[in-house]
Amino acid sequence: MLEVEGLGIRFGGNHAVQNVTANIKPGKITAIIGPNGAGKSTFFNLISGFYQPTTGRIRFQGQDITRLPTHDVVARGIARTFQTTTIYKELTVLENAMIGHRVRTRAGLWDALLKTGREKRDGGGSRDGGMAALERVGLAPQANLLAGALTQEGQKRVGIAMALSSDPKLLLLDEPAAGMNPEETVNLMALIRELVVGGLTVALVEHKMSLVMGLADEILVMHHGQKIAEGTPAQVSRDPAVIEAYLGSHAHGGQMGEAGASENAEASHA
Ligand SMILES: Nc1ncnc2c1ncn2[C@@H]1O[C@H](COP(=O)(O)OP(=O)(O)O)[C@@H](O)[C@H]1O
Ligand SMILES: [Mg+2]
Repeated sequence: MLEVEGLGIRFGGNHAVQNVTANIKPGKITAIIGPNGAGKSTFFNLISGFYQPTTGRIRFQGQDITRLPTHDVVARGIARTFQTTTIYKELTVLENAMIGHRVRTRAGLWDALLKTGREKRDGGGSRDGGMAALERVGLAPQANLLAGALTQEGQKRVGIAMALSSDPKLLLLDEPAAGMNPEETVNLMALIRELVVGGLTVALVEHKMSLVMGLADEILVMHHGQKIAEGTPAQVSRDPAVIEAYLGSHAHGGQMGEAGASENAEASHA
């Protein structure tokens, strides 16, 4: 569905992403993991058109999207959430979802916010699109609450609804579970699975390996801007290069977690 080839970007002398070749398969959950600073968010920024790559190509559904601006990438069917919450807390949950929908309709973000004439003409569709997205994330009953009044998990769902309201085929989630407690994380993982059952393809960035062990179909491991491993959770968790990267990372040593460790032990007896 999404193929990247030799993808790279340099900030000054820093190769944030370097020569990454990868394939995100339709109908699957692909996790991009790696220690902090590995280049995971930058990888998403490249795919979604926020950054222009220094090298390489990106193809989506057979078409080259390498240097398309963000709104064209969204229009082709790729939507994303951000690592830090970017919802409008002083707007309602529905208004937030409608902003996502704007990207695909004629009126733009500011029309949506300022409710100009064009917004009024397109308003019905945008409202329906926003409500449909809220239903997908289980927030329809909260549509008219202020987004800022929701829990951390609720606000994450609003962020996902904003992305879903552009009706993407591929959804990129950057650390969706950041700041959540274990129970909220379990709920979020269930939501992601539901979305994929409903036909969506999901790629998500996470630095805690244990968190994606039970969720991802495919894992791509990044370290120092490069892809160092890929495969099923069982495959990557017993990959020496992956273990080395996680143990060698001071700030996040041991975050492979128990799932990673036990999977690893099991795999070595297989
Ligand atoms: N806009 C930018 N300008 C300069 N350096 C950047 C920029 N964005 C990311 N980087 C650098 O790229 C590297 C990878 O960052 P990032 O992709 O955010 O890592 P991750 O998401 O894996 O924690 C880091 O060294 C970071 O400082
Ligand atoms: Mg990041």
